[in-house]
Amino acid sequence: MLTVMRVDSQPPAVGAAFWVSSGAAPAVGPDVQVPPSRHRTTALLSSANHNLWTDPRELFPASENCKVAAIKCRNAENKTISEQRPQSVKSAARVAMVLKDVPIDNITRPLGRNEVIGLLFRLTIFGAVTYFTIKWMVDVIDPTRKQKVEAQKQAEKLMRRIGVENVKLSDYEMSIAAHLVDPLSMQITWRDIAGLDEVITELKETVILPVEKRHLFLNSKLLQPPKGVLLYGPPGCGKTLIAKATAKEAGFRFVNLQPSTLTDKWYGESQKLAAAVFSLAVKLQPSIIFIDEIDSFLRSRSNSDHEATAMMKAQFMSLWDGLDTDHHYQVIIMGATNRPQDLDSAILRRMPTRFYINLPGDRQREDILRLILMNENVDESVDLKLVAKEADGFSGSDLREMCRDAALLCVRDFVHNESSSSEENGPIRAIGQADLQTSINKMKRSKTANIPGVLVHATLD
Ligand SMILES: Nc1ncnc2c1ncn2[C@@H]1O[C@H](COP(=O)(O)OP(=O)(O)OP(=O)(O)O)[C@@H](O)[C@H]1O
Ligand SMILES: [Mg+2]
Repeated sequence: MLTVMRVDSQPPAVGAAFWVSSGAAPAVGPDVQVPPSRHRTTALLSSANHNLWTDPRELFPASENCKVAAIKCRNAENKTISEQRPQSVKSAARVAMVLKDVPIDNITRPLGRNEVIGLLFRLTIFGAVTYFTIKWMVDVIDPTRKQKVEAQKQAEKLMRRIGVENVKLSDYEMSIAAHLVDPLSMQITWRDIAGLDEVITELKETVILPVEKRHLFLNSKLLQPPKGVLLYGPPGCGKTLIAKATAKEAGFRFVNLQPSTLTDKWYGESQKLAAAVFSLAVKLQPSIIFIDEIDSFLRSRSNSDHEATAMMKAQFMSLWDGLDTDHHYQVIIMGATNRPQDLDSAILRRMPTRFYINLPGDRQREDILRLILMNENVDESVDLKLVAKEADGFSGSDLREMCRDAALLCVRDFVHNESSSSEENGPIRAIGQADLQTSINKMKRSKTANIPGVLVHATLD
């Protein structure tokens, strides 16, 4: 046991080590307290010349009643005793070595005003240096740091381009703002979508109009734009296309939210990012938060969900509710999925406005074909009605792929003829009915070889 002793006066330039083995608590001096101890209690003073060991009774005459068990002097005569010096003495000696440099006055007297200020100043500097060092280290080991910095720069540029000014954004909001869509850079307009006129008209009337003509519905809580819109249906039928056209044409700020943006390795960061999505959308309103393949992000909650994911989903839903309670917010969350049955039922409830984007019918396929082949070199004899009929069950994306394949057949013929004759050939021939028919047959074969995965109209309620 180590007893720390307070001494008022500087001891002589000698050091002493002693231990008390008596059971009683002897007084070793007016200010030196040695507690009663069954064990050997070590009190130690070390001098500037700490190699010198002397009799403590010389230092503390009042400690006569201490039973000094061993004293080692510099020129120790009794080596046996010094070798038997207990471990506690050694460790106490080490402590004393550290303390010996501190003037005893500094410990006993109260600090002056200047010293307190100096101490506080040094502590502040120390704290700041520690904080920035740790921050720097965290930045260095953060693998996503570069992306974050770039995202911020991109966000600032984007905001300037889309005319967002005088809006203060937090760091989290900035990283979400990097996903803002610049309408000028979008190529897709309503005219690039064929066969979905009904859906487009309904979307314009139920979603865009209430925001555009807001002044007409100010007093009605019913006639507010929906807070959630879901586009669902089989793959390749134009859901993403509609969202892109909305971003271009609606005149809203459009955040194309990638679920990966919300994932962060640090605990609690994902929730802050999720909150930033909503706060940013409110700051930039009227706005649309678009989540493509929303089923991957907000799928049915289960026990196997990671804690962070479950928390983020729950938070997302409660923030979404926040939009609902205040009808002045003009923020719409739009999702697209081809697996609506995988969506959490609570999410479905929050998306009451749903548009089913089904596989195109005969007439719609013809419209899509006409749109796709509009600027291509197509033979006049081609009957698009017949082609559309032949392409039964094809999605918009299939039709596009089929047309591309037919155009490639022409290019292949051209390249083949060019290599077989050295003479200069004419331009690439126009796409004919036969080319389209060949491509349709080819696509049908490849489609039947695929696992049947065409989605039927899923019941959502
Ligand atoms: N109605 C359409 N009019 C014109 N082109 C279409 C239409 N539908 C699909 N396409 C073509 O198909 C491509 C894919 O469409 P889109 O990405 O919108 O499909 P999706 O419904 O989002 O599919 P997924 O569910 O797989 O994401 C489009 O880029 C476009 O070229
Ligand atoms: Mg899509």
